[in-house]
Amino acid sequence: MEMTVRPRRLRKNDTLRRMVRETRMDKSSLIYPIFVREGENMEEEIPSMEGQFRYSIDRLPYALEGLMKAGVDKVMFFGIPDEKDEVGSQAYAENGIVQRALREARKQFPEMYLLTDVCMCEYTSHGHCGVLCGHDVENDETLKLLAKTALSHVEAGADMVAPSDMMDGRVRAIREVLDANQHKDIPIMSYAVKYASAFYGPFREAAGSAPSFGDRKSYQMDFHNKREGLKEALLDVQEGADIIMVKPALSYLDVIHEVKNSINLPVAAYSVSGEYAMVKAGAKLGYIDEAKIICEMAVSTYRAGADIYLTYFAKELAGFMDEGRIG
Ligand code: PBG
Repeated sequence: MEMTVRPRRLRKNDTLRRMVRETRMDKSSLIYPIFVREGENMEEEIPSMEGQFRYSIDRLPYALEGLMKAGVDKVMFFGIPDEKDEVGSQAYAENGIVQRALREARKQFPEMYLLTDVCMCEYTSHGHCGVLCGHDVENDETLKLLAKTALSHVEAGADMVAPSDMMDGRVRAIREVLDANQHKDIPIMSYAVKYASAFYGPFREAAGSAPSFGDRKSYQMDFHNKREGLKEALLDVQEGADIIMVKPALSYLDVIHEVKNSINLPVAAYSVSGEYAMVKAGAKLGYIDEAKIICEMAVSTYRAGADIYLTYFAKELAGFMDEGRIG
């Protein structure tokens, strides 16, 4: 048979396959989301996220040490406060849970890169991502509190802040406050394209942040829309964002691709709690091969265009990269 082009030639063995890989990634692009809570000696497993924990601050260094050993040197903090109120005061309290976690992490692991999620939903009694006016989240009033929160994180030692609230104008508001307080060099990673997603279910259980009424559809995006995601991304570029995030990851690879091709900033993708929970549950039942699925999900996200990957599987992925399974 006359056949000069044979794609299988380059798939012959592992050496060749590795040589012609189109998607490359390494551990420096991994960020691990971590939950910190009040109390002492707590390492509380999250029921819907087996293998993930809420750490009290005294237990935090052990978790961070494990990550550093695996080669994951970037974490994103999520705080679970004891006290919640209408205006989420603990989000921007000097001695709030995230602020204390940052000081502790900074002290124990000076070389670690510390990011924070900036939002109100874990701190408000109603569980919405901002302050309310009736049953509406009041955009412009919320901006002031988000800016205050971001500043307090940076003052406690955050290297980068990541607003996830989906209020309009929050990147600009945070940029202005940071700049006015001698923090011109602190980058903002914006959760620019964040969908109203059922994939956040386990996170809300973990953080006790489910809204007490209604949903988040008046601020998070409708998952029917892609062009709107681009609008959000471009707006945040104009407002001074340094990195644009798309969230969730797995069901939004087309959006990641589109954003990557349309802007010239690094693109991050967040593989969220529901993605993690699905893999864990499927593996536990013996229906899927956990390690292989983790690898395939990660590679597809990078292949779609992500430069940075936030995932609860960061430690596992670092191991797979070391083994040369992926990367
Ligand atoms: C805070 C926030 C959420 C997540 C990240 N930041 C929850 C939400 O928007 O409801 C979800 C992360 C995950 O599911 O892993 N607003």
